[in-house]
This record gives sequence, C-alpha cells and structure tokens, in this order.
Amino acid sequence: MLSATMPRTTNQGLLDWVKEIQDLCQPDSVHWCDGSQEEYDTLCEQMVQAGTFIRLNPSKRPGSFLARSHPSDVARVEDRTFICSRRKEDAGPTNNWVDPREMKATLTEHFRGSMRGRTMYVIPFSMGPVGSKIAHIGVEISDSPYVATNMRIMTRMGQNVLDALGDDAYVQCLHSVGAPLAPSQEDVPWPCNKDEKYIVHFPEDRAIWSYGSGYGGNALLGKKCFSLRLASVMGRDEGWLAEHMLILGVKSPEGQKTYLGAAFPSACGKTNFAMLIPPAEFEGWELTTVGDDIAWIKPGADGRLYAINPENGFFGVAPGTSYASNPNAMRTILKNTIFTNVALTDDGDVWWEGMDGEAPAHAIDWTGQDWTPDAGRPAAHPNSRFTAPAVQCPTIDPDWENPDGVPISAFVFGGRRQTTVPLVFQSFNWSHGVYLGATMGSEMTAAAFGKLGVVRRDPMAMLPFCGYHMADYFNHWLKFGRELQNPPRIFHVNWFRKDDDGKFLWPGFGQNMRVLKWIVSRVHGKAYAIESPLGWVPRYEDLDWTGAEDFGFEKFDTLMKINREEWKQEALGHEEFFFGLLDKLPREFTFERELLVSRLWRSPDHWHLAPEISE
Ligand code: OXD
Ligand code: MN
Repeated sequence: MLSATMPRTTNQGLLDWVKEIQDLCQPDSVHWCDGSQEEYDTLCEQMVQAGTFIRLNPSKRPGSFLARSHPSDVARVEDRTFICSRRKEDAGPTNNWVDPREMKATLTEHFRGSMRGRTMYVIPFSMGPVGSKIAHIGVEISDSPYVATNMRIMTRMGQNVLDALGDDAYVQCLHSVGAPLAPSQEDVPWPCNKDEKYIVHFPEDRAIWSYGSGYGGNALLGKKCFSLRLASVMGRDEGWLAEHMLILGVKSPEGQKTYLGAAFPSACGKTNFAMLIPPAEFEGWELTTVGDDIAWIKPGADGRLYAINPENGFFGVAPGTSYASNPNAMRTILKNTIFTNVALTDDGDVWWEGMDGEAPAHAIDWTGQDWTPDAGRPAAHPNSRFTAPAVQCPTIDPDWENPDGVPISAFVFGGRRQTTVPLVFQSFNWSHGVYLGATMGSEMTAAAFGKLGVVRRDPMAMLPFCGYHMADYFNHWLKFGRELQNPPRIFHVNWFRKDDDGKFLWPGFGQNMRVLKWIVSRVHGKAYAIESPLGWVPRYEDLDWTGAEDFGFEKFDTLMKINREEWKQEALGHEEFFFGLLDKLPREFTFERELLVSRLWRSPDHWHLAPEISE
C-alpha cells in the first residue's frame, strides 16, 4: 500500500488548494505523486489486488495491464461537458453553459465527502517537456489510482514538475469518481457515479472540475480538458494555438525536414496518419511522429510557428489497430501499456476486433463475460483504448521532446466524406485556408450521433474541444495568421471518397504518402498545381505514382472531380452551419463563401482535370 506522503513544495497557493479540497472531499489519506517507477508499480499492484487491473502475461505483454470500466462509463460525455465562462456569449452556441457561480455551488455539494474511504492523489503534471516555454503545468487532484497511473504515461508527472513550478500559478484540475465508500463498504473494480457526471471548465479561473466518471478524457484532465478546452482559451488570450492536431515529420531523401500539423475529426485515423509508413517505392523518405492528437503552437522569434505535442503518451482507440493498418502503433503497445475495455485472451494477452489474423476461439470480453466468435457482439468495446508511452513508438521524432518545439510548415485539414470533396486541394491563401478548416466535416457513420449520411460540421476538429465561442476562435485564427510573415500553407484532404458502387476510390494508409509528398513539395515551391474552383490542385503527373502506375488518370480524375450541384449543397451547408454563429462570424467568411460560390458558378457543371491540362 502506498503511504500518505508529505508535499515537497513551498507553493502556498497549491498547499492551500490541496488543503481546501481535502477538507471538502474528506479522503482517508492524501498522496503526493512523485512520478517514480516505484510509485507506479505499487499503484498498479494495488489495483491488481483490488480487481481494477488484470496483469497481462509478462512473456507476451511485459509491464502491461487490462482494466474494465463500468458499462456506463465508456466514453467522453459531451452532453455533460460544460464551458462555464462568466458570460454565456463567451462560451458560444456550440458549448453547454451554466453560470459559473451556480455550477460551483452545485458541484461543491457533489464533491462534499465524495472521496470518503479513498486516497486523494495530488498529481503535478506538465503538458509538454518540463521547462519548455511552450509547455504549461497543471495539478490534478483525483481519487482514482487509474487516473494517477494513466497520467504518468500521458503527461510528464511528478516531483520534477513541482520543482519546475516553484511558486507560480498552475491549472487546477479537480477530479472525483463520485463514489464515496461507507466505513465497511467494499469497493468495486471500477468506481464511478452512474447517475451524475459533470465535466466542467472554468476558463477565466483556469480550472477544471470533473465528477462522476473515471474514463479517458473525462478523467485524465491533462488531455482534452486542459490541452484543448482550457488551452484554446489561453491561446486566444496569449496569442498562440491549441489544436486537435497530430504532428508529423517528413524527411526527404535529400535530408530536408518538414513538419506539418493535421486536424481530422475523432475516428478518422489520426493515429494511423501520425505513424504512417511510406510504400517501399518511397525509399529514402522518412516519416516521424511528434504527436497523434494535440498540438500547441506558438510563434518563434524568427517569425515561424513552433509546435510541441503536450502529451507524453498515446491514448489510442484499439479496435481496428493492427499490423496491417498501423504497425508502429502495434509495436508501441508491446509493453508497459494499460489497456481499457479490450478482450482478454486465454493466454493472458489482449485482443480486439480488427487485429491481424483469426479471432481467438475463446476470450473474455470487455464486460468480463465468456466470448466466442459467434457471440454476436464485439469482444472489445468500440471505444476501448491503449495508454502507451510515446517514447516506445518506433518512429518517434528525434525532436519530439525539443523544448523549443518543431517548426510547422503546413496545416492539413480533413474529414470523412464519401462524396463531394476531392482527395486534396490547397487553399489560395491564409483566410481561405481558415475557411476550409472552419467548414470541414464528416458524414455520420453511427446512427447514434445523428442521421446517417448527414454532414456534421466539425471546424478544425475542435467542435467538442473549443473552450470558447467558435466564431471568436475563427477570428483568432485569422488574426494569428495575419501577424505571421510566412504562415504555413493550408491543405484539405479526403481519404474517404467513394465511387457510385460505394467502394473507396483511394486505398489510403501508406498510399497517403503520395499526397503527402505533393504537400511537402508545394510547401517548398517544388511542385506544380493548377487552379480549381476549390483551390490549387495537383494534375495527375504532379503526384508520384512510382509503384502504383495502374492507378491511372481516370481514377485520379474521379477522385478529384468537382460537381457543381454537390458543391451548391455544400455551400448551403456552410451557410446553415454559420447561421448559428452569425453574431461573431468573421467578415472574411462571408466573402470567402461568396468567392467560392462565384468560382463554382463560372465553372462547368462537372469540373474535371482535363487530360489535355494534364499533359
Ligand atoms: C480522442 C478523440 O479520444 O478525439 O482523441 O475523441
Ligand atoms: Mn482526439
């Protein structure tokens, strides 16, 4: 058992806050996390004893564990997520809002006594390399050892962070699973509050209060809550960007290194793109991973943008991850990984739908029941996860921990669109690029989230993660770029366009390297493009088809065509989405939309890459 520990800090504000929360939540003991391996191992063993963790077979998955959550606590809860800014109009129409005084009063009563029978962990963490000028420090107070161990993987956590913090301010992150124990009450493997969950942000106070859930983004407060919702507000106030972007490094055979940030809505294969392996024909090209989910981007003294991945690990979706789809992710999770809600095989390893090879003849599913392939239900929850140290990724970039960040030369936006949107195009300029990001979206693929086939707009993939009014966020992007001498080029991609028979037109995965090479070459002024109604596009011969010569002009043209009727609907969709944001919508967007409509109006019904243009 971990003993209660004394704080090793002189930060009076922090000491006072911890005391205040201790008095309110009434835990049995308080443990200040030092971040050591010994502490991690002790917590894991403690959870094995409590039934929260199952130790996986050490010869198959050394240092790894499986946790199974309560079936009511399996994902982020967007309808229970609140941005409690002082003024409602600062949260904007895309966020839930409650007056912060009212919310604090409600939640204070929920937190009162909520940690009884439990240990309260004080978890100092840095988002980004400790001491980096781009990084920021938070302290999470949580009554969940699952959170403490996951935070040690996902963030830089422990005493060195307290030392770096000194007497400075930090982001206050308060978390309770909301399941106090009566004196002789036995605990359950996954305590949570089945009836009440609150994920609440107080942007002006730089504080997060989370109650009732122990899962992922609801509980690991450094991730979506801090690094996106609060950090987006900090970025607006301080002149930087906190984005839902992967960061990828591309090294050409000549040794030229280019970094780009890419935003795709959740469940569009971000982790796969971040760990892309080029096809064999691209010998000499090297792709490296800086981050798979979040980028913090600040202007450097030289007028360029520099980005860090504020996280220290990957919290990836397991189902669909395989050696076929993402070998680098599979190698990252070979050891020292916490799995949540995947299936347990009879030899003490993990399994999920979409893994390579045959399904096991028998397994224990994520609910703890016996499972066979004919069970008629998935063995792993569709949102089951792995938590793994980023440093274990075979393609981790040599500069991923560079405190100065990596220079960003391009932004890529993309959605999941079966129709309408071409494989790739480049914006005409910065404000057009911001418009492309602001109008990106995905078709609904799960009926649970709305009408199938309807486009859900997800600006910059930030809809669930922007901590303030979405239109203020667009204005911030516009201003930010205007102040840069040489802003990154902006691109839009769509890997998911289908033909009339419903088959994907583009093979995706490693083949995306062909598009990536064009993007990188454009950035360096080395690739040709022609003007289309949507932006600059490559001709067939502008992409490198080595090894894929059978992917002919016709196919490429189908992927790139622009149908005026479809784009009329698209432009109307933009208008409809913007309608809700009109009070603060940038003027530029009205003009960008008009320009788009005018360009479409003057182009043929079906805009094609004519072969003669392509010669
Ligand atoms: C995630 C998400 O978990 O975007 O990264 O939902
Ligand atoms: Mn994400």
